[in-house]
Amino acid sequence: MAIVIQNLRKTYKAAFSPALDGLSLQVRKGQIMGLLGPNGAGKSTTINIVCGLVAPDEGTVKVMGKDSVKDGQAIRGMIGVVPQQIALFSNLTAWENFRYAGRLYGIAEKDITHRAGELLERLGLDKHADKRVGRYSGGMKRRANIIASLMHHPELIILDEPTAGVDVQSRAMILDFLKEYNKQGKTIVYTSHLMEEAEKLCDEVVIIDEGKFVVSGAPQTLINNTTDCKRLEDVFLHYTGHSVRD
Ligand SMILES: Nc1ncnc2c1ncn2[C@@H]1O[C@H](COP(=O)(O)OP(=O)(O)O)[C@@H](O)[C@H]1O
Ligand SMILES: [Mg+2]
Repeated sequence: MAIVIQNLRKTYKAAFSPALDGLSLQVRKGQIMGLLGPNGAGKSTTINIVCGLVAPDEGTVKVMGKDSVKDGQAIRGMIGVVPQQIALFSNLTAWENFRYAGRLYGIAEKDITHRAGELLERLGLDKHADKRVGRYSGGMKRRANIIASLMHHPELIILDEPTAGVDVQSRAMILDFLKEYNKQGKTIVYTSHLMEEAEKLCDEVVIIDEGKFVVSGAPQTLINNTTDCKRLEDVFLHYTGHSVRD
């Protein structure tokens, strides 16, 4: 298993209700897994706990068989994280950001240059690498953040809403890239609220709501097993209801 989450509970300070309320789920190695849920369902909290950015009140997380509390450092070396909020220095160029990220992972300068160079070309940013990231469009920032998170060739890549707020071309390029990265045997976990996209991209999806596991399975299996559902969006609404979340 790439990720095994058991009985996670998390209530933020001053919150009325828990962000995670006994959440358990698993991600198999080599999968593209979609973590889906309405606003406030607990997707980002789950991801931040898996990455070691947020501490759970209760529960355990294992990543590639390692315990997130005891082996946090080893885990951080195996995963690449693209957070919901862009995590780049906007006053630095893309190159400067990648050098910084590469050094944090202890990668040799020549390997940083090689790795960033290949990813810049693959994600269509090679002509913009010397521009300050603050001047990038939303889609360019997201692509640059993906590059920064892959400097150390992680086995597992976790992306929180990587296609939110990006232009159509960037989105197509990002999804294409994720498929390709997955074909190299890497595991991908990503969150989205675009059901059509998740239906096409994911081997399996897990729907969570109000900090709890709701259902998981291959998109087509969920569609087939849920009465009157033709698309993943119907399944999603079937399980999470029609009330609007803020
Ligand atoms: N840093 C925080 N402090 C207090 N409450 C938070 C914080 N982060 C998230 N929450 C709350 O926890 C719940 C789950 O949020 P989140 O994990 O961001 O959900 P999602 O990513 O699925 O939209 C929401 O009710 C949200 O308002
Ligand atoms: Mg979120």
